Order: sequence, then structure tokens, then C-alpha cells
Amino acid sequence: MSDNWFIGIIGGSGLSEGLELEEAQEVAIKSPFGEPSGPVTLGRIGGVRVAFLARHGQGHRVPPSQVNYRANIDVLKRARVTDVLALSAIGSLREEIAPGEFVAVDQFIDRTTSRENSFFGPGCVAHVSLADPVCPRLAQYAGDAAKAAGAALHRGGTYVAIDGPQFSTRAESRLYRAWAGDVIGMTGMPEARLAREAELPYAMLGMATDYDSFRDEEAGVDVTDVLSIMRDNASIAAQTVVELCKSLPAERSRVPIDTALEHAIITAPDARD
Ligand code: ADE
Repeated sequence: MSDNWFIGIIGGSGLSEGLELEEAQEVAIKSPFGEPSGPVTLGRIGGVRVAFLARHGQGHRVPPSQVNYRANIDVLKRARVTDVLALSAIGSLREEIAPGEFVAVDQFIDRTTSRENSFFGPGCVAHVSLADPVCPRLAQYAGDAAKAAGAALHRGGTYVAIDGPQFSTRAESRLYRAWAGDVIGMTGMPEARLAREAELPYAMLGMATDYDSFRDEEAGVDVTDVLSIMRDNASIAAQTVVELCKSLPAERSRVPIDTALEHAIITAPDARD
């Protein structure tokens, strides 16, 4: 079975001003999970349909722990996107991942607390597999696209998700390295979990802006440096989306994530709320 691609883009701090879409149309999509970060911009790049959502809202007003991740994923699902690519600023936990470089994340360690992290609640119990939280096919296309756009790319990397808004202490940064974390950010979770529950193949391209705080000889993370790297990377991030759309095959064949819920719901159909 196949259908057409419709790519949802969640633009983080590195891509908050949006993308140049043909036939762009801004729509406010309602969600029963509350207010999303803002309207969704629908349009096309080449022949491919694209829906763009700024994770921190227009004007970058929503802090990481106040992003309504459920509503954001829900409105993209309601827009009928087939796949979601997230672009996010990240800190590096590895010498070999330098600020300015991109990482196609493939694993997560979730250290966030008290964020709504499931669409399921009392009345319907579901356990989706999250062993491989990133869609390998989308990550491959996204990584290729980043390279075509001129990014220095690392394929694969474990993302440690923290609440923020403060950056980590040196001890935390060293701990995350010992846990085999490669990069760190404040938004990848629960976004990736929720995408899986929504049966949306998800991939994340992280854009390293700093060396977090594990380097003893350096001062901690400085937002001025972070912003300057983000500005330098914004055009590569936008071009990455263009390259992605150009590279997709005409037909989208199905992947197992499209039906992730098929064997996940354990509440009997007649007992569900
Ligand atoms: N986003 C960008 N740099 C970060 C860092 N060092 N920690 C958490 N989130 C980040």
C-alpha cells in the first residue's frame, strides 16, 4: 500500500521563523488536548505537501516545559501529515560533535518530569513500543537532506531530554556523558513518544549550539553564543527541508510505525471510554 508524502515540520529554536512554502496558508487547527503552540502553515515544497508548526510559538514565547506537546502532535495528525521531522537546537555532550554541526538523533533518555506524555489515560490503556523511537527511513532521508544542504552531519546519537529552562550543572552534564548521552535538549521528549502514539514516523535533526557544561576549562553555556550559532544554522535548516522534499520518492510506502497502535491497546473495545 502507498500514499503521498505529507511532511510535518516542527521548527524549534533554530527554525522558528518558518519556511518558504508555495501556496502557503495559515490555519488554526483545534485540538481536544488544548492550545497548540500556534497555527499550522500548510503549503508545498516542490510537489510535496508540508505543514509547519513553530514549537515555541510565533515570536518564541512558549518555554520548553509549557509547550503543549500533545496538542502540537494532535494538530499535525489532524492536518493528516504522514511523517514528522523535528528540528531542534541541542547542546553537545561529545568533543567530536562541535557547535554548528547537525545530529540525526536516534535514541532518547527522558529526564523530563510532569509533562503530559501520553494521549491515553484513564479509560483506555495502551503501551506502544518505543524501543526505536525514531523512524529509520525518515532519519536516513533527513540526514541525506542535511548533508545536501551543506551541514556537517553525525548519523545517530542519544538525546538526553531535560526540563530546563536552566542549562545543566557540570555534574549533570558529566552524568549524562557517563550514561552514553551524545546531545542534550529540552524538547525532544515527550514529543517523540507522542508522535509514536499518534502513529506518526518521527525523526529529529538536532543542531548543536554549544558544548553543554562538561568541559572544565570552559564557562557554562552562554545564550549569546547559542543564538549566534542558531542564526548561522537557520538557512541550512531551511534548505534541509527543501532538500528533503526534493529527495522523497513519488510514492510513500507504508512503515510499521503507521500502525503502531494495532497491538498496543489492551483495554477491551467495549470497555473503552
Ligand atoms: N539547547 C541548546 N543547548 C542546550 C543545552 N546545552 N542543554 C539543553 N538544551 C539545549
